[in-house]
Amino acid sequence: MPLDPAPVPNELKGLRLALLVAGGIAAYKIVDLASALTQAGAQVRVAMTASATRFVGAPSFQGVTGNPVLTGLWSADGSPEPHVALGDWAQLILLAPATANIIGRVAGGRSDDIVTATLLASRCPIVVAPAMNDAMWSKRAVQENIAALRRRGVVVVEPESGHLASGHVGAGRLANASALMKAMADAVRSTYDLAGRRVVVTAGGTREPLDPVRYISNYSSGKMGFAIAAAAADRGARVALVTTAAHPAHQGIDVRPVETADEMLAELKRDLAGADLLVMAAAVADFRPARIADDKIRREDTSKLTLELEQVPDLVAALGKEKEGQRVFRVGFAAEGSDLAAKGLEKMKKKGLQAIVANDISRKDIGFGSDHNEGVMLFADGTREELPRMTKREMADRILDLVKPRLK
Ligand code: CTP
Repeated sequence: MPLDPAPVPNELKGLRLALLVAGGIAAYKIVDLASALTQAGAQVRVAMTASATRFVGAPSFQGVTGNPVLTGLWSADGSPEPHVALGDWAQLILLAPATANIIGRVAGGRSDDIVTATLLASRCPIVVAPAMNDAMWSKRAVQENIAALRRRGVVVVEPESGHLASGHVGAGRLANASALMKAMADAVRSTYDLAGRRVVVTAGGTREPLDPVRYISNYSSGKMGFAIAAAAADRGARVALVTTAAHPAHQGIDVRPVETADEMLAELKRDLAGADLLVMAAAVADFRPARIADDKIRREDTSKLTLELEQVPDLVAALGKEKEGQRVFRVGFAAEGSDLAAKGLEKMKKKGLQAIVANDISRKDIGFGSDHNEGVMLFADGTREELPRMTKREMADRILDLVKPRLK
């Protein structure tokens, strides 16, 4: 650094990154890095040691990231457990600049400040970028601590040689921004197999209004769509979930609540630009009332009510005819009562899909509302994969495993 114009790698965009800052002069460079990552679409949260706040103020990081900064184990960020919250949240941690002191404390398994506690409570890959005086860096104690961190799977970005704050010339300068970003992107890629991918998922049964208080819908619970969105997010993808169902939101998913098929289509058109994969797990209502009454239809208005229904457009077929939709690998679901594979194949062709998951809705132990599912996945390339009974989350991961090698 100074921050070179190296673009932020795709893998880091949309990712939840914790930047842990220790007390070295190079702390100011991390403000630039936090800013570049945030501007590129990463979600960045910062925690600082007390010494770090002597070099850079927390408001600088808060300003560039838009998020509150943790500066102590007892800081009031609204979280009941600040010592674990950030480590739990992060998909990747960068500790930079890592001073000799913090490296020693991390190597010793300490958790006596917000930075060490976050590292100890984390579940994600950790990249450490040391920066210190050349004499400190060359000391056996420091090198042994670094070796211990490496043995435990921490990625260490070696410091550069050059002019040091002490006036000496030697190894100890914080690695430059592109080296830090490359190390982070490599760590992300090796941990999250869908990093850099954009996935759009639909979930739930669409609701078509009849009047201000009633709608036509179906029994879809939305659980399968939520499971796919959660699996894709856990595997590092940027996920938009267009849903009529409201389940607790999984970490990092961009939830877009909708009601009707028209609203779902409008959201999908927005989301498909730049997406790699669309999974249509939603049960889109096939028919909707031809007219929506402005006022509640009352019992005394009529003794018998006849509803006129019109067809709802086929969303996924329509998207497949548009340029944006065609670039995206499109997976549908087919809810069938019999002849799963034959009917699934026909639907896949009719809707122009690259794959379809056919499942049996006649069984009570799987499908609608259940936490389990079973079916068969068919691909336009002729492949057929049996999906034996498993949890919806397991099926979500299996579907992603099968789709991943086929993404462009
Ligand atoms: N689908 C859609 N738009 C519709 C209906 C369905 O995009 N108007 C999508 C669903 O999200 C699913 C796939 O098409 O991925 C198959 O849905 P399904 O309800 O099984 O098929 P339909 O076309 O509705 O056929 P049918 O109800 O006659 O079986």
